[in-house]
Amino acid sequence: MKPKILVLERSADLADIIREAAEGIDPSVEVIACNRVGAVSDVLHQQGPFTVLFAGPSLASRSGLRRLAALHEECPATSIVLAFTDRPDASLREIVQAGADDILRLPFDQDDLVIALERALDIGGRRLEGVTPKAQPGVIPFPTSPAVPTQAQVFTVSSATGGCGKTFMATNMALFLARHTGKKVVLVDLDLQFGEVSTALRLRPNYTIYDALHRDGDDEDFEFAEHLDEFLVPHEGGFSVLAAPKDPAEADRIGPADVTRILDVLRSHCDYLVVDTPAALTEIVLAAFDVSEHLFSLATVDLPSVRNLGVFLQTLDKLRIPSDNISLILNKAERDVGLDIGQITRLFPQGFKAILPYAKEVSRSINMGMPVLASDPTAEVSRKLAACLLEYLPDAERAKANEGFEQPVKNQGRFKLFGRSLHMAAGNAS
Ligand SMILES: Nc1ncnc2c1ncn2[C@@H]1O[C@H](COP(=O)(O)OP(=O)(O)OP(=O)(O)O)[C@@H](O)[C@H]1O
Ligand SMILES: [Mg+2]
Repeated sequence: MKPKILVLERSADLADIIREAAEGIDPSVEVIACNRVGAVSDVLHQQGPFTVLFAGPSLASRSGLRRLAALHEECPATSIVLAFTDRPDASLREIVQAGADDILRLPFDQDDLVIALERALDIGGRRLEGVTPKAQPGVIPFPTSPAVPTQAQVFTVSSATGGCGKTFMATNMALFLARHTGKKVVLVDLDLQFGEVSTALRLRPNYTIYDALHRDGDDEDFEFAEHLDEFLVPHEGGFSVLAAPKDPAEADRIGPADVTRILDVLRSHCDYLVVDTPAALTEIVLAAFDVSEHLFSLATVDLPSVRNLGVFLQTLDKLRIPSDNISLILNKAERDVGLDIGQITRLFPQGFKAILPYAKEVSRSINMGMPVLASDPTAEVSRKLAACLLEYLPDAERAKANEGFEQPVKNQGRFKLFGRSLHMAAGNAS
């Protein structure tokens, strides 16, 4: 079997360095780069087994090491080498638990890199063949075909300018996925300072993401995963919400590594994760992008919003976030506002996944605490939004949903949504 090295790092430069060094050791070595931490599990299973997993400096954080430890459990035969620039923000114990066979400091000393790769290829190769590694006599051979783990698909909604409709989009997407798949959907409000998901859905959360992290951090025995349901607020649309902190000051105490940790736990406990973000490209938002399969970027029909969408996309490109996963949405489209929609679409050759009209039904839906797809399913904005979201459903559910949307039946506070009846409380939705 040909040895394979998987290089996990946001920037592609590291993979190039490893490729060059590996070719000098064994020209048959195949080096594959994965620039999204969220995709690594799939790559490991679809393109593996890998002899070596080379983790770059973006994994040298506590949350990165936890993720490595989980990957190590999935693929224990793969030898892990960790590269870091600064001292990892983690204890020796956490590094050991991540299963690293070697640690290198960047920039590499070429000899050290070659020795580390040779050793890792040897250890991983022996483990994959079911041979006990030389250095560890008596160890039982490692399994080589682990079960594929179930991980939620992650959708993150973003924009460069505020008020484009991210919260509108995220709440509707959560409802759409829950209604059509019947699966567990969690909507996370990562607009940590001024998140409005709870308000838009008229929910009154007892706990927020801050409480989840705070308890997790303060109490050694506390595991967020075991208490997930305490922190999630159910919405009658069939999904749950992890709310933003109540006090904007609490947001300062939440870092990107915390966000990665929370998203990791949620990913392994639900089927779909929808993430609402603030109008900014912060490390917090990038942490969400890292684990997302699908990114949505919104803009409205005004010059600053359109221009900033362009800057936003260029920045994502510089950060090497793959553009294939980014879908553009033009929201609140109106005629006669001095900016022609045709002009805007020509500026973005990748095209817009949806152009949604400005609709008063949206404001009405917010006042009811129910996403417009449920409160007004036949409105133009709902039909266009639903048509855009259909593509993200599994084939069978998409076929069913395509059979047509029913007219809403208003009867004693009940609305019909896509053939299902949904109770609408007259006032508060919670
Ligand atoms: N298609 C639409 N038609 C009419 N109103 C809309 C539409 N989309 C969103 N809105 C309204 O625009 C306002 C801003 O929307 P929303 O809160 O979803 O934007 P946002 O991008 O989340 O804003 P922020 O950046 O402040 O978080 C809300 O009052 C919402 O109801
Ligand atoms: Mg918002």
